[in-house]
Amino acid sequence: MLIENWKILLALAATAVVGGTDTSSSTLSFLPSNLQARKPKAATAPVKDQLLIDTLEALRVMQDKYFQVNAGTWPSAIDWTAAVVGTHVAGALGSLSKGLLESPVTTTCEREDFLLRENLVTLYFSQLVAFYFGQDAFSLRNQAYDDMLWVVLGWLGSAQFIESHGKSLFDSDSAAGADTVRQDIDLALGNQSWHGSIWTPPFAHRARIFWELASKGWDTTLCGGGMIWNPRLAPYKNAITNELYIAASINMYLNFPGDSSSSPFMYDPPGAWSPSAETDEWPPRDPKYLKAALDGYKWLMNSNMTNSFGLFADGFHISKGLARDNSHATDIAAGKCDQRDEMVYTYNQGVLLSGQVGLFKATGELHYLHAGHQLIQNVIRATGYDLYRDAPIDDLARLNPWELPPWSGLGRGGVLEEACDVSGECSQDAQTFKGIWMHHFTEFCAPLGGATSTPDVETVKAAHAAACQQYLGWLRHNAMAALGTRDDEGKFGMWWTAGLLNGLTTASLMQMAGPHNDTLLPPQSRPHAKGGARDVVDYRNYGVPNDPMWIVQGANVPAADSEGEDEDEDEETFNNRATGQLPIDHQGGASRLRSRGENSANLADPNNRGRGRTVETQGGGLAVLRALWELSKQADGL
Ligand SMILES: *[C@@H]1O[C@H](CO)[C@@H](O)[C@H](O)[C@H]1NC(C)=O
Ligand SMILES: *[C@@H]1O[C@H](CO)[C@@H](O)[C@H](O)[C@H]1NC(C)=O
Ligand SMILES: *[C@@H]1O[C@H](CO)[C@@H](O)[C@H](O)[C@H]1NC(C)=O
Repeated sequence: MLIENWKILLALAATAVVGGTDTSSSTLSFLPSNLQARKPKAATAPVKDQLLIDTLEALRVMQDKYFQVNAGTWPSAIDWTAAVVGTHVAGALGSLSKGLLESPVTTTCEREDFLLRENLVTLYFSQLVAFYFGQDAFSLRNQAYDDMLWVVLGWLGSAQFIESHGKSLFDSDSAAGADTVRQDIDLALGNQSWHGSIWTPPFAHRARIFWELASKGWDTTLCGGGMIWNPRLAPYKNAITNELYIAASINMYLNFPGDSSSSPFMYDPPGAWSPSAETDEWPPRDPKYLKAALDGYKWLMNSNMTNSFGLFADGFHISKGLARDNSHATDIAAGKCDQRDEMVYTYNQGVLLSGQVGLFKATGELHYLHAGHQLIQNVIRATGYDLYRDAPIDDLARLNPWELPPWSGLGRGGVLEEACDVSGECSQDAQTFKGIWMHHFTEFCAPLGGATSTPDVETVKAAHAAACQQYLGWLRHNAMAALGTRDDEGKFGMWWTAGLLNGLTTASLMQMAGPHNDTLLPPQSRPHAKGGARDVVDYRNYGVPNDPMWIVQGANVPAADSEGEDEDEDEETFNNRATGQLPIDHQGGASRLRSRGENSANLADPNNRGRGRTVETQGGGLAVLRALWELSKQADGL
């Protein structure tokens, strides 16, 4: 496979030479033909400075308002959303390290400024370290497989930050110092570059433990492969668990630093901490991780999980041949993934992206990058954005203040949106989704490095970067919408679209909808309310229905609660998710728009409905700003 790709690339390179001047980027492109020659709009310097300020502010508000130092966590988060928020902090630290500390220090004044910046990085890093202990690893061990895989990605991301930050601070070989003081310092630091390195072994350990726990979800007896979502429910093979398995596995292959502790729980080194600890038992670059990622990718891409928009539907049930104990009978159709849940969520279009870029780095095969760019372009189109005109499809300036642009598949008006956003009914799960999309998009579009198995790597890097730059206008549009949802305290809202449409209020939404009017709701969330099509179940927002498709019959499941409107609903929803005892909401769309709004103190702001602003929505704001900051910085280098 690798050899074949080399040949294709060499052929491409040869055409470039024959073609004459400057053909390298037009020969290989990840863009549709009408976009290849278009110049993306670059941001001006003041805009970029403001972006840095806004990103820092989003991080500061997230940590000041939601992180609790003595608890070592964001207490209002649930286990999996906290793992994602930790991943956002690690990502932001990487951006800060690169963005704030990259220039060399020469004068005293700059030195002070540098120390201040390093102090800032260390502040947030210390909170990440606290979260290592604040994370409820014992509880997570018994949750669904996707919950475990967020943990893997989080600590791998944190270990990667430590490595890159250490390198940027101590790039030159800081070999043993000349004087004795320096020697003592080296000894205390264990000859490591940055002090944060002492956390790499425990972080790596937790990533490995959780990868191993989660990989038990890989199953070949049903549907010819794929990860199972939750061992306590009827078998459901969904996009998210499989995308996470791919992303986490390829990340383990590329970035896991090795582990020497055999403890199944906390890091328990076989002696005092030592930077050169043996990593033989669980070495880095273990081919088993690559194999897992490849198996997962092959299964997912052949699973028929994408819909007519080219977006991933949520997952597959198995309608035939399942006995009570989940083993399948001898029926020929038995054990087939045949019943697709058509629900579309943003995060299902995101996590795969970091898997695809990792698979490219590991194999040098271009099709992973092609598929990733295609997915991004499908997402952008489904938000109602025209990449060629670099503007929303609908003319937003002509909308009346009380009008919404039409639903386009995964958003409206060029902005990413969950189906639950318009009614303000997003669960704690859904509140985390857009930030996840942005995080993995940022990973995908980061400058490609280290893909040494590709002969003409410079051509690929340039084509990849050029394609990513074409997304900048859309990304800016989304970031501006998100910024528009901030309240007086700087807290981001969940429904970014509302930040774009000035003058939109909960009252005007209710007026638009009228009694029992569902037209504002995306089609996916309508059948549910009307007891319509069975193939769309928004279980992430309304819970898992108590029916044989989801719950193993005969299992001890109490009757579903149809109310579930009380304050503790979200905690209940989460706690019950593992056992599948979830309430399901049968209210009509319009009454849903209204009922959530009435309870909130400030009726004017649609982002005050439902759960309102949370650490999860703050993570989303941080992630979209960081994505824009990273891509804007790249624009300078082109
Ligand atoms: C640090 O480096 C010195 C000199 O190379 C070496 O003697 C010492 O053992 C190293 N210390 C550790 C903890 O590895
Ligand atoms: C793919 O899934 C769709 C939607 O469930 C279904 O209509 C179609 O028949 C499936 N195609 C194949 C080849 O299984
Ligand atoms: C529902 O709302 C839409 C959008 O405001 C409006 O065009 C339509 O007439 C309403 N339908 C009913 C039955 O009220």
